[in-house]
Amino acid sequence: MLVVDLGGQYAQLIARRVREARVYSELVPHTITAQQVLARRPHALILSGGPASVYADDAPRMDPHVLTLGVPTLGICYGMQLLALELGGAVERTGASEFGKTELRTDEGGLFEGLPPVQTVWMSHRDSVTAPPEGARVVAGSASTPIAAFESPERGLYGVQFHPEVIHTPHGQEVLKNFLFRLVGAQPAWTPAAVIEEQVERIRAQVGRERVLCALSGGVDSAVAALLVHKAVGDQLTCVFVDHGLLRENEAEQVVETFGGHFHVPLVHVEAQERFLSRLGGVEDPEQKRKIVGEEFIRVFEEEASKLGDVRFLVQGTLYSDVIESGGGEDGVAAKIKSHHNVGGLPADMRMQLVEPLRLLFKDEVRRVGEELGMPERMVWRQPFPGPGLAIRIIGEVTAERLDVLRSADAILQEEIRRAGLYRELWQSFAVLPAIRSVGVQGDERTYAYPIVIRAVPSEDAMTADWARLPYDVLETISSRIINEIPGVNRVALDLSSKPPATIEWE
Ligand code: XMP
Repeated sequence: MLVVDLGGQYAQLIARRVREARVYSELVPHTITAQQVLARRPHALILSGGPASVYADDAPRMDPHVLTLGVPTLGICYGMQLLALELGGAVERTGASEFGKTELRTDEGGLFEGLPPVQTVWMSHRDSVTAPPEGARVVAGSASTPIAAFESPERGLYGVQFHPEVIHTPHGQEVLKNFLFRLVGAQPAWTPAAVIEEQVERIRAQVGRERVLCALSGGVDSAVAALLVHKAVGDQLTCVFVDHGLLRENEAEQVVETFGGHFHVPLVHVEAQERFLSRLGGVEDPEQKRKIVGEEFIRVFEEEASKLGDVRFLVQGTLYSDVIESGGGEDGVAAKIKSHHNVGGLPADMRMQLVEPLRLLFKDEVRRVGEELGMPERMVWRQPFPGPGLAIRIIGEVTAERLDVLRSADAILQEEIRRAGLYRELWQSFAVLPAIRSVGVQGDERTYAYPIVIRAVPSEDAMTADWARLPYDVLETISSRIINEIPGVNRVALDLSSKPPATIEWE
C-alpha cells in the first residue's frame, strides 16, 4: 500500500494504521510519478490530507496519470478533494467548515460495511466536495457537508472527508479495513514472522560470506537489529558492547546474558567504566559531557573493531521514522544521521557498508519483531535511554558515588512503576540527581543530603511530552523507599514540566 503524503500532519499515522491492519505500507511523496507507482506494484493508494486548499497556487498536486492507472485509491480529506477535482467533480469553499467531532450519516455497504448508520468522525476542513468524481456515488454526509464520502467501485475510487486514521474517529480503523480487505482484497500478511523471514533473506543477499559488526547499546533497536542479523548469518556477526558505566541497574548484565548466554551471539564485552569516568572527572557542562561520552565511545569501539580484522559490514538500527524524517528514500542519507543518535555516535569514517534491517519498521513493529525472535520482555519493552546515559541525569560532575546514588534511586523508581503497571504506557520514567544538597532530619539527627527528582512523561515521539499524572500512592511508595533505602538521599521531588518549554532530560 502506498500512502501519498500531501502535506498532512497525519500522513505517517495513516501508514501506521494500515500496518496495524497487517498490510505493508510505505509513505511516498506526492511528486511520485505514474511510472514509479507502477514499478512499486501497490495493491492500492491512499492519498493523505493536507493543509492547503486544492485551488491554492502552491497546493500539492499529483501526476494526474497516477489517478487513472486503475490502482484502487482512497482519498482522505485533501486527498478526497484532489480526487474530485482531477476526476470530473468539484470542490468549493462553501463556508461549511468543520473542525473536530462531527456526526456522520452513512449508507450501508462499501467503506461502511458492518458499521452503524450514524457514527462520530473527526473532521478538519474548510473546502468541501460539491460534486463527486464522474460516476461516483455519495455514501455519507454530515449536517454541513452533504458529500462527506463517495465511492466508485467500478473505477476503484473512494473518498472520505473525515480522518479515519485518528483515534477521535472510533470506527476509523474499521473503515480503513473495509477499504483494504473488502474493497481492495489485500491480505493481512504483514506479520512479525513475515518481516523476519523477508529481512533474513535480504541480509543474507547483502552480506554473503563477509563478516559483520554490530554495536549494542542496551536499547531495543540495536538489540533487535543484531538478532535479525544473527539469525541470517550466524557467527559471521560479532557484537561489541561498550559498557561505559553509565547504564541503569542490571542493564549491562542483561545484555551480556541475553546475547552471549541465551542467543550465543559472539559478543565482545568491553568494560570501559573506568575510562569513561576518568574522562568525565571535573566536567560539569552538559554539552561537554555528551561530547566526551560520544568521542570516547568511538575510540573504544574502533579499538575493538580493529582487533577483529577485516570486517566489511556494520549493523545500524535505523528506523522507518528516521528515514521519513530525513527525507526518506533510497539514498542512504538517513543512515548517516541516525548513526550519531543511536549508539551515541559511531565512527563516521569507518569504511563499512551499512546493514539496516529495521529501516522499514516503526518502533512498535521493532518491538513485535523482538518478541517474535524470543527476546526477553524486559529488553523488548525497555523505555528509550539516551546514549550518554546517566551522565546527563546527574547534574554537575559525574562521580562513582553519585552514579551509585542515582542508579539505586532509578532502580526503585522503575520497580514501582512496573509494579503499578505503568511502565509500558510511559514514554520514559527515570530519576535525576541535582547538584545540590538540602537539610533533613533522620532519627533525631540532622542530615545534609541529595534530593532525587522523579521525571515521568507520556509522549508519542519525544518531540513533545506531558508530565505523567502518577497516582499519589505510587509516588508515596517511590518517595519513601528512595529516602529510606538510599543513604545520602533525604528528599524526593516531582518534575511537573511539559516539553516544551522543558526538555525530557535535564541536560
Ligand atoms: P529531550 O531531553 O531533548 O530528549 O527532550 C528527547 C528524547 O531523546 C533522548 N535523548 C537522547 N538519545 N542520545 C540519544 O540517543 C542523546 O544524546 C540523547 N539526548 C536525549 C531522550 O532520552 C528523550 O527520549
